[in-house]
Amino acid sequence: MSKKNIIELNQISKNYERKIALSSLSFVVEKGETIALIGPSGAGKTTLLNMLASNFEPSSGEIFIDGRPLSQLTDRKKRAKKIGIIRQQFDLVGQLAVIHNVLAGRLADWGLGKSLLNLFIPQERQAATQALTRVGLPDKMYERTSNLSGGEQQRVALARLLMQKPEIILADEPVASLDPSRAEDILEMLTKIAKEEQQTVIASLHSVEYARKYFSRLIALKNGELFFDLPADQVTNKQLQELYQLKELK
Ligand SMILES: Nc1ncnc2c1ncn2[C@@H]1O[C@H](COP(=O)(O)OP(=O)(O)O)[C@@H](O)[C@H]1O
Ligand SMILES: [Mg+2]
Repeated sequence: MSKKNIIELNQISKNYERKIALSSLSFVVEKGETIALIGPSGAGKTTLLNMLASNFEPSSGEIFIDGRPLSQLTDRKKRAKKIGIIRQQFDLVGQLAVIHNVLAGRLADWGLGKSLLNLFIPQERQAATQALTRVGLPDKMYERTSNLSGGEQQRVALARLLMQKPEIILADEPVASLDPSRAEDILEMLTKIAKEEQQTVIASLHSVEYARKYFSRLIALKNGELFFDLPADQVTNKQLQELYQLKELK
């Protein structure tokens, strides 16, 4: 093994009472891979991302990060350095200025008070300016966040992620609420940043087209099971048709 396995899933299952959301899922992720999670609604994508984000534990099986059980990564600051999350609804505080939301990327590091104080520390302001410049919003620093468009707000969320600098980025339908050109803009930026920072990305996506275009590997789930796991350029249209076919039509 020449490359480092940053994530390893070993026979992960998750039940919600009697519903089996994920069934005995295993795969390994190398550092720097960009993975799109695809599959029909209800396939288990959000459940999987929630477990990777430590929102809840699997019913059985184990997740390893850098070879160590995720369940032992309980220190919030250490976890924030490892794993960052970008959500469909951006999780920004609308009434605050953009710069506050960007600096919040440091929250897990330093705590809320210090993070707001850091607004006045030149290095931090400079880092936030750089992050905003990288996402193409250098002039929006003091704008009220809620005044920005959806696409701009998702860029602010990316700038916040640049401040956090996690090794792994998880994203659940990060562009679902954006129009197609904004969506492509964000995916292009996200995958470009990840490449530059050697970050690992796992993002669930509705659009197979975007998944193939921007990600290196596609993991398809169906009914809580692994349907295929392939390099993006090896996925065939037939496989995609079968993936999205309704159960009743089989
Ligand atoms: N909190 C919950 N309670 C009960 N069932 C749930 C819950 N969350 C998800 N499920 C079920 O688990 C399955 C997987 O859901 P989910 O992970 O949200 O799929 P996806 O994100 O691929 O659409 C679905 O059948 C869904 O109805
Ligand atoms: Mg979902």
